[in-house]
Amino acid sequence: MADWKITYDSWKPEEQPLREALCTLGNGYFATRGAAEESTDDEKVNYPGTYLAGGYNRLVSKVADRDIENEDFVNWPNWLPLSFRHSDEEEWFDLEKVELISFRQELDMKDALLKRWLHFRDKAGRETSIYSKRFVSMADSHVAAIEWEFTPVNWSGEVELRSALGGSVTNNGVPRYRKLKSKHLEPLQTGQHKEDTVFLLVQTNQSKIRMAQAARTRVYVEPIACQVQRDTHQKQDYVEQLLRLYCEQGHSFRLEKVVTLYTSRDFAISEVLQDACLNIDRLGSFTQLLEDHKRSWSRLWNRCDLGLACNDKAQTILRLHIFHLLQTASPHIVSMDVGIPARGLHGEAYRGHIFWDELFIFPFLNLHLPELTRALLRYRFHRLPEARFLAEEAGYKGAMFPWQSGSTGREESQVIHLNPKSGNWVKDDTHLQRHISAGIAYNVWQYFQATEDMEFLTFAGAEMIFDIAQFWSTIAVYNPKRERYEIHHVVGPDEYHTQYPDSDEPGLSNNAYTNVMAVWVIQCALGTFDILDESRISELFQKLNITDDDLERWRDISHKMFVPFIGDSNIIAQFEGYENLLDFPWDKYKQKYGESMRLDRILESEGDSVNRYKASKQADVLMLFYLFSYDELLKLFGQLNYELKPENVQENIVYYEQRTSHGSTLSKIVHSWVLARSDRKRSWSNFEVALVSDVEDVQGGTTPEGIHLGAMAGTVDLVQRGYTGLEIRDNVLWLDPALPEEIGCLNLQLRYRGHWLRLQATTQKLKITFDRGWSKEVQVGVKGVVYTFRTGDEREFDI
Ligand code: BGC
Repeated sequence: MADWKITYDSWKPEEQPLREALCTLGNGYFATRGAAEESTDDEKVNYPGTYLAGGYNRLVSKVADRDIENEDFVNWPNWLPLSFRHSDEEEWFDLEKVELISFRQELDMKDALLKRWLHFRDKAGRETSIYSKRFVSMADSHVAAIEWEFTPVNWSGEVELRSALGGSVTNNGVPRYRKLKSKHLEPLQTGQHKEDTVFLLVQTNQSKIRMAQAARTRVYVEPIACQVQRDTHQKQDYVEQLLRLYCEQGHSFRLEKVVTLYTSRDFAISEVLQDACLNIDRLGSFTQLLEDHKRSWSRLWNRCDLGLACNDKAQTILRLHIFHLLQTASPHIVSMDVGIPARGLHGEAYRGHIFWDELFIFPFLNLHLPELTRALLRYRFHRLPEARFLAEEAGYKGAMFPWQSGSTGREESQVIHLNPKSGNWVKDDTHLQRHISAGIAYNVWQYFQATEDMEFLTFAGAEMIFDIAQFWSTIAVYNPKRERYEIHHVVGPDEYHTQYPDSDEPGLSNNAYTNVMAVWVIQCALGTFDILDESRISELFQKLNITDDDLERWRDISHKMFVPFIGDSNIIAQFEGYENLLDFPWDKYKQKYGESMRLDRILESEGDSVNRYKASKQADVLMLFYLFSYDELLKLFGQLNYELKPENVQENIVYYEQRTSHGSTLSKIVHSWVLARSDRKRSWSNFEVALVSDVEDVQGGTTPEGIHLGAMAGTVDLVQRGYTGLEIRDNVLWLDPALPEEIGCLNLQLRYRGHWLRLQATTQKLKITFDRGWSKEVQVGVKGVVYTFRTGDEREFDI
């Protein structure tokens, strides 16, 4: 790792699945794993995969005698194939069948280029070198390109090159899903468009999304495109061009493969195949396309980069995280109807579904590219009708968003899943994570805080907040004995606990996080009355059928929600009855399985159940300290008539730290965050684990199936907001840096309410430079004092 680059200087087949995920190139519209151009899916080392934002398809599989329907994230035709051989009597190039003299692969994040240098000797003693470069254009979302510089090092002779588009792919990237149906594509057409251009047209078999790809392949013996002998072969789902030419020892030639990709989900198109072919004719050379691509990335980095002066490792990994975030959510999504998949556009894990991980992802976007958060919130807004249907079906009012969302916003969580450890199909009740709806309301509010986007709040945001508040007020039931409201049959963020050990009913009662979030949403909805004009409020109430009685109930709940505590202590119980669970033998299991464990799978394979133990998969109660400042939380609890003192926060952190297995990469983010002020050393050690979640694949095999975007964005946000103490409250942007020594010096740019602010922080000083903005001055608070910043202002503070 060096600054802007991730480099691999030897070929390690066992590492290839991880490298493919980490070297994925994408532009928000589509992405392709960093598989080698000459490779095909072999279920072990290589898995070329191409994924389209919003590219879903449903299939029904028979599992344990049941029909199970899954909405999958389709693996689209592979546009990469490029290979060579010496004659039609010889085999196509295969890295495993030659002697590698040198190998180097480099992900250049600055230019978003994947490069590979190969120098090898074949069985006949011929030495060849190939230098390949590849990008997925950030300038034109429909374009990708590969360049090969091919050198016959010690031989002269014929060479046959193959450039293809392969549509016979299936979804085969996640071993656990292999027992399920996986053929999503039906081939429609293949053919030749121009002498150097071929095309492929496919369609998904259920959602009927069409994709056309066109590939133009040219060979240059510098400086001119040279005449090669060309043959086109086509099958129903595959098209290739074979190019033959004579090579002179020591003389390189260049091959360019430029690809266009259009789908029936696109705007401003007529027919996908026509558009793919028409537009490929208009494209310039590899070098010209690369220049445009680089310029687009430099604009993005200009907004989003973050500099750590004295920690190279953290610097590079944080850049990698920003890089993958921008490849999943780029400015191209602004006009698209897509959400942000938890595992990026990088693999098939979790089927490209959208979870609450947005909560960890949006804060970074809010302060750099808020237009993207707005687009991603609109994905939720467009799915309000489905959320209303889900609420109604479950007997509630308002909008209940699904735990896992895909194309339409119906619940996409699986009802049973395969435990790879035991081979058993196990019931899955994690869809009871109703807290996701609160997360969505929270995201709307945070976006508004960062942007003051009244138009969005008025026309979409408030409708979501009101309808979600209405849902919470109807799922909450009044318990006259306690004189408090309760919420039953839910699952909290900790997915290990889905029911009580002695019960047959799924769900738990009074998950503290859920109950407090419900109150927060209702308060937020009530607070919105002070911002919106009355006529808009009455329009919305009329549309959503919100009555005065409903409001009465909202107000009542916001003072009388039940929050469980453990006995007489100040420890918030994760859910009611948590204290009755057994203590877990942590030492024994940590010795065997290490720090991060999937205890649900381990215990099930041992005939036990994690539901019986005080053992959490991830932060649950601590989520409250992650999302709210002490002041906000103490106020919330105070309003509910519970006494929570600042010192109790620490006790809660210690209690749950000892009972969490970090079986989700999100967990360490939260643990690092909640310690950021009180214990910088422990915060940093948690941060370090979160930081390497993907580069070191700490969950043991999950990253190859897709990166963990929540953890990636979460680590960047930890530096951006956690360690700078950034908080937007009462129309003031508060800063209170507490940098860990390991960071030393931090440089970043933030977009806040239409302005750009530059922050330079060290452990001793904070400098704020206020660039030009398009709206009025803003208030920035440092260590309790509020300052007004206008264009050109610069101030320095002692920390
Ligand atoms: C975590 C969830 C998360 C999901 C997708 C699960 O392992 O428990 O909190 O939303 O992964 O990232």
